Amino acid sequence: MFKRKDLLDIQTLSSNEITHILDVAKEMKPKIDDKSLRILELENKTAVTLFYENSTRTKMSFTLACKYLGVTLADLLVSTSSVNKGESLVDTGVTLDKMGIDTVIIRSSKTGAGHLLAKNIKASVINAGDGTNEHPTQALLDAFTIIENKGSIKGLKVTIIGDILNSRVARSNVFLLSKMGAFITLAGPRTLVSKNMEKLAENVEVTYDVKEAIKDCDVLMGLRVQFERQNEPVIPNTREYHELFGIDKNDMKNMKDDVLIMHPGPVNRGVEMSSYIVDCKNSVINEQVKNGLAVRMAILKILLSNK
Ligand code: CP
Repeated sequence: MFKRKDLLDIQTLSSNEITHILDVAKEMKPKIDDKSLRILELENKTAVTLFYENSTRTKMSFTLACKYLGVTLADLLVSTSSVNKGESLVDTGVTLDKMGIDTVIIRSSKTGAGHLLAKNIKASVINAGDGTNEHPTQALLDAFTIIENKGSIKGLKVTIIGDILNSRVARSNVFLLSKMGAFITLAGPRTLVSKNMEKLAENVEVTYDVKEAIKDCDVLMGLRVQFERQNEPVIPNTREYHELFGIDKNDMKNMKDDVLIMHPGPVNRGVEMSSYIVDCKNSVINEQVKNGLAVRMAILKILLSNK
């Protein structure tokens, strides 16, 4: 069961807590397509989205998750808020708290922003991505998608390729997949994958040989090169990156027939993956988006029912 006030990371969750969230997400998923199943069970609850960084998938799925469950939602548009007059994150959070909200869904470029907010306000805090630290709801939706397609995570070989160094998605996935018994390979250029990442969790290995890393994996997860987090260029250019580290049609010959191809989005087609790979029959990238909504409905239900 899940008794916490907040959802801040995967690192401190137990495998039982993860399984509970995924079980509730399974109950939620049919409500996306079948409106007759939607019950406005959180009608007296209020949520605020506080996104200091850009988002399509995470923000929109939390927005729709609130609407499908009857949660009253307000978006604090950071670009027109008093943040621009120098107001601190804690003062912003306390201000929202005093207005009687039940939860804040925060995305920030600062590691630990959600943790700081959670310590200072009564409302539940959901981390929708903090800097290069964690993106817990992404890892949960990825786990949901893997289980839906492979039955279980235990014993699977999962290869994550790309800009691992700057990726909160990679970190949250490493923590979750390791807890659930997967073997994880992190692959990419030396400038974007550190050998030290093997110490993040059990059963994690780092390689710089992408072609070798894709050979026998059950799940292949591509990651975007996050140019916005790089102070100086770490790859020569995107064309060369694709040739050396990108996945394209030719690579399918060297992968398992039933390999599951995933990507958290947004995808830079032709950089980390060709369009052929993004749209091929093994790709579940669009299903990940749908599962993101189910998982976020589950998290809102669990946290707000606890209050
Ligand atoms: N995967 C993900 O977090 O996408 P957004 O940045 O669009 O929310």
